[in-house]
Amino acid sequence: MGKHIILIGPMGAGKSSLGKRLAKRLKRPFYDCDQYLEERTGVSITTIFELEGEQGFRQREHKILTELLSHDFGIIATGGGIVTESVNHALLASDENIVVYLMASVASQQKRTSHDKSRPLLQTPNRHAKLATLAAQRQPLYEKFADIVVDTDRQNIGKSIEQIISQLEQP
Ligand code: S3P
Repeated sequence: MGKHIILIGPMGAGKSSLGKRLAKRLKRPFYDCDQYLEERTGVSITTIFELEGEQGFRQREHKILTELLSHDFGIIATGGGIVTESVNHALLASDENIVVYLMASVASQQKRTSHDKSRPLLQTPNRHAKLATLAAQRQPLYEKFADIVVDTDRQNIGKSIEQIISQLEQP
């Protein structure tokens, strides 16, 4: 399979955990955009937001995705906001990549991120409202770019991986 697999979906959908396991299973490298950005800059995502604002972060995120797509074919976990920037749309729509959308309801996102302190957008008193607003804006975009859709509320990571592999094998 000479293509990258790009994982998209909201915060708390499990892109990093599933991505690592899928990469192991397919014997491919795993790349995580946020982690790569933190390693590259030597500071946390929170610090980037503080110093450069969300806009600065989005510019860096785009550069990282572009760079990772030039690496060996692997599994790339993106941040939940990757779909918001039109510069990323051509990358997501390209036939050279397979985009997997990990769907998660706002309720399960809230549960899975309840102790989170590392996501700047979630450091707000009403996390549920924030997640719901982001979902309303982004869901149509996740759907638009998805080649494969996985419902992480309905099945565990193992089952989601089986579903992805079986859909990848389809001609
Ligand atoms: C963001 C999601 C985060 C991270 C940043 C912004 C977003 O990644 O990129 O905090 O805009 O949804 P995860 O989806 O991996 O949490």
